Amino acid sequence: MRILALETSCDETAAAVVENGRRILSNVVASQMEHHARFGGIYPEVASRQHVLSIDGVVAQALAQAQVETVADLDALAVTCGPGLVGSLMVGVNAAKGISLTSGLPLIGVNHLAGHIHSLWLEADGAVGCPAADLAWPMVILIVSGGHTDLVLMQDCGQVRVLGGTLDDAAGEAFDKVARVLGLGFPGGPAIQKTAERRAGTFALPYPLQHDEEHRFAFSFSGLKTAMLHQARAAGLKTEDASAQLPTQTIRDLAASFQAQAASILLDRMETAAQAFDAASVGLCGGVSANAWLRAEALRRFAQLGIPLRIPPLALCTDNAAMIGAAAFRQWHSAPPADEGLELDVYARMPLSGPSSGT
Ligand code: KG4
Ligand code: ZN
Repeated sequence: MRILALETSCDETAAAVVENGRRILSNVVASQMEHHARFGGIYPEVASRQHVLSIDGVVAQALAQAQVETVADLDALAVTCGPGLVGSLMVGVNAAKGISLTSGLPLIGVNHLAGHIHSLWLEADGAVGCPAADLAWPMVILIVSGGHTDLVLMQDCGQVRVLGGTLDDAAGEAFDKVARVLGLGFPGGPAIQKTAERRAGTFALPYPLQHDEEHRFAFSFSGLKTAMLHQARAAGLKTEDASAQLPTQTIRDLAASFQAQAASILLDRMETAAQAFDAASVGLCGGVSANAWLRAEALRRFAQLGIPLRIPPLALCTDNAAMIGAAAFRQWHSAPPADEGLELDVYARMPLSGPSSGT
């Protein structure tokens, strides 16, 4: 089964053709980074407009790279319908509806977070840890992205239970905000990684919710972010532009301290869940799982525990449409949807089990 998938939930315009949920025939991502960098974050109106400008070209490129002559040669269409920026989601959903109308192909609405989860099963070079075939149930998965930090339990392929999420900022959001404090620019995750230079830092930072049994699968990053601001001020920061005021070594040390602490917090929770549910395997996915320090620490930790771990290649950690094609395939086979077609809506918030709160 070959699916053309579209993804426009945030600031990447993406299209991919995926075969049987695993094989990537094409995977095209048009980044809008340069358009948002000057705002220091994602500017929703700019994102929608860039999606409109890019979507046709991105889809054409994905079809050409997969050597698909006409869309009607495919078996289905998939598109992210939430969670995300409503204006951005609408561009992808409307484009997909148009293609569905003209081609007659069924349209599958996909949850962006289910997409991140299914990136773990895509065949691609650069994944670390075990082969996808070794991912056994029950499985604990941590999704760490710019908008979400969700710890989930999968009992089998279709059953997803959310064990906990963030009480405030998402992990990627924390990286982005701390990078701003340190004057490192946007997007913050890659900037912090580069500045931290593969080492742990020396600044003492808090560990939110550490001994809170009630929240043992939950996360909180806002206190960590505030502590970073205090540490930077104590080191001599007066305004927001740390790069102009603090010695380079201090900024490196601060970035490294934050990165190491965030990684410990994420992996401790993942380990607690893996042990509590006797996980046969674990997965780490979402934009922040592209972080080199986090990947190395996760590999070391789960190797010690003897639990197979898989982390997708970098290009499949950050937003892409191949993961949406993979999730759509599973969705289709676990419960073939009634053709949503023109009825498909978009959802700013959308729990993993399906649409709940509307836009
Ligand atoms: O999954 P994603 O591409 O988009 C969302 O669904 O939100 O994640 C984007 C997030 C951003 O916050 C970005 O700073 C973070 O992933 N990120 C990283 C790295 N690369 C991207 N965070 C830490 N280290 C990285 N190398
Ligand atoms: Zn994402």
